[in-house]
Amino acid sequence: MSFEIDLSARRALVTGAGQHNGRAIARELAAAGAEVSVNDIVAERAEQVSREIEESGGVARPAVFDVTDSRAAGDAIAEHAPDILVNNVGDTGAGNAPGSAPVFSTALFLESDPGDWTRLLDINLYGVMYCTHAALPKMIERGWGRVITIVSDAGRVPSRRMVAYSAAKAGAAGFSRSIAAEVGRSGVTVNCVSLGTILSEHVSAEAADQSYQRMRRDYLAPRLGRPDDAAGMVVFLASPWADWITGQTYPVNGGFSATL
Ligand SMILES: NC(=O)c1ccc[n+]([C@@H]2O[C@H](COP(=O)([O-])OP(=O)(O)OC[C@H]3O[C@@H](n4cnc5c(N)ncnc54)[C@H](O)[C@@H]3O)[C@@H](O)[C@H]2O)c1
Repeated sequence: MSFEIDLSARRALVTGAGQHNGRAIARELAAAGAEVSVNDIVAERAEQVSREIEESGGVARPAVFDVTDSRAAGDAIAEHAPDILVNNVGDTGAGNAPGSAPVFSTALFLESDPGDWTRLLDINLYGVMYCTHAALPKMIERGWGRVITIVSDAGRVPSRRMVAYSAAKAGAAGFSRSIAAEVGRSGVTVNCVSLGTILSEHVSAEAADQSYQRMRRDYLAPRLGRPDDAAGMVVFLASPWADWITGQTYPVNGGFSATL
């Protein structure tokens, strides 16, 4: 039996795919043959990643919308009609999202402002719910679909200074389990991938090593994560090999939290 993954009959949409994990996920889904809609709130990022995929021989098009805008997400997802939805967008509050100021980096829960929680819940939980709500009807009609949501170990282990992010990510995992129960009989699987620390591809080998040395007590593997680590699990969950896997959350984290 050869282990090949062929997604050539599939249409995927990856949210927040303009850089880092989402970009790697979009590129690997395309390399497996899927036609990929590259979502990002920043048009140039979505266009750039779509171009990269096309230049490598894949099929891609940008899908520029804000996942926290339920109407915009609904319209775009209806237009792109993915049978594989990857809810990748997320924000720790570190200020990665365009135009956002850092909110969590110094704030313990009691020092934080409730207005900041709203933003983190919007992007990490409501965005997942809006996109999933919009994508499911077509998947159910076709009798096949995949919803894969990127969550975080911060939603599974105690995480100081990341309380709202942690709540939102745990919420997204709980949401996914319950949706899996509602749509399981329709041939749609719903799973989460829980990531540990993933270093951006722009981090030098030396800086990556220094980060790992600081965190090595927590990680069993001899390095921190790379965007391709996230992409590998997503492509597997999107494939026919994962037909009988649903309602689960898979850690991809170099053994961080292995004792949980
Ligand atoms: N990087 C890590 O170490 C790590 C660890 C655990 C979990 N995660 C999770 O992985 C996922 C991806 O993280 P990342 O570090 O690659 O993210 P990132 O911040 O590097 O990239 C996110 C992308 O999403 C886009 N974006 C932001 N707000 C958006 C919105 N409202 N609508 C559409 N697009 C939007 C941004 O423009 C950006 O291109 C997130 O869910 C994150 O929580 C990351």
